[in-house]
Amino acid sequence: MKPWLCLAVAAGLTAYTSFTEKDFINSNTGFARQQLTHMLHETETRDSLAFPRTTDKAGKMTTTSMYDWTPGFFPGSLWYAYELTKDPVLRQQAVRWTEKLAPLQHFTQHHDLGFMMYCSYGNAYRLTGNPAYRDILVQGARSLSTRYNPVTKSIKSWNAFKSWHGEQMYRYPVIIDNLMNLELLFFASKVTGDTSFRHIAVSHAETAMHNQIRPDYSSYHVVCYDTTNGKVLARETAQGYADNSTWARGQAWGIYGFTMIYRETKDPRFLKTATGMADWFLNSKNLPKDKVPYWDFNAQEKGYAPGMRSNAVNVKTKYRDVSAAAIVASALFELSGYVDVARGAKYRQAAIDMLHVLGSPAYRAPEGANGNFILMHSVGSIPHNNEIDVPLVYADYYFLEALQRYKNL
Ligand code: GLY
Repeated sequence: MKPWLCLAVAAGLTAYTSFTEKDFINSNTGFARQQLTHMLHETETRDSLAFPRTTDKAGKMTTTSMYDWTPGFFPGSLWYAYELTKDPVLRQQAVRWTEKLAPLQHFTQHHDLGFMMYCSYGNAYRLTGNPAYRDILVQGARSLSTRYNPVTKSIKSWNAFKSWHGEQMYRYPVIIDNLMNLELLFFASKVTGDTSFRHIAVSHAETAMHNQIRPDYSSYHVVCYDTTNGKVLARETAQGYADNSTWARGQAWGIYGFTMIYRETKDPRFLKTATGMADWFLNSKNLPKDKVPYWDFNAQEKGYAPGMRSNAVNVKTKYRDVSAAAIVASALFELSGYVDVARGAKYRQAAIDMLHVLGSPAYRAPEGANGNFILMHSVGSIPHNNEIDVPLVYADYYFLEALQRYKNL
């Protein structure tokens, strides 16, 4: 028996054998390499600064500029595919697509710099050790830090947020997704010795833990602050069904975010929050049996009402969000290493089960289809009537990360 399988059996993970699991990882790795190779060919027909994001109605790949929140995921996927395969062509393309993002190190217009730079340059530095990448990441962290306010004790996510309920405009919105951007700040403190980045990250995480997470460990999407006194003005949603509902990807960002923050701080309050949010997700009566959540845990439930301007009122289908499942699967692999054996086994088994479901024909595309993305059936934003039941580049990124984490077990 392979040593890791002995460990798996000891931990109660008996559902899969080492042989089938190796096959599973290899076949998904091979498939990812094929799809990414097709996608790289397709990008040659487009503007060189167009970053893959999703598909149009005809199923063709669509792209964004580097200033949207997702450009880091395509280079990041290439880095994970390279790590999984050691294919030098994927490495060369990962370098090429990462380096296109160098101008972002000075970008300050929204909070997503962590996603944009850490998924691209962060993986690039991790896998190459190139000091030029480290310096770009540190400059990116400086740019992100400009959005921190010591009164709100938070990094401002967007410059403005208009409520779905009417004309109210908020000028200091913070969204749960923002937790993910803190990894860039922790990194910058570690490589420079400058603790100010870390201070901002911890302060933001504490504020989010108090204001964004409900007592039962479900989550609010958007919290809006008064910059004169730091008080919460409103708790609403932008991409979820209702203000009091739990948007599936928001919960996923919280599980992943607090797991990462615990890794960086070893503060038990953050571990408690991560496990609380993970348990809420896994134990929800509204989580389908295959653990791929509906886009919002409370869509169309009694007691939950979308704002009048939200497109959520018009959508009766309960779409799944594969991106949320991929993020949670990746997070659970890491979280399983920070808890006791029984709980760790439970999280690990859930992550493995989710990875298998995502890699099945129900969610994994046929080769050459799906705009050459790997996974189908994600949701960008139903309230905005945007990207509904489509592939999304970040679903693929977290699927590959989860696959790599599984391989590393
Ligand atoms: N961070 C934006 C989203 O999850 O859609």
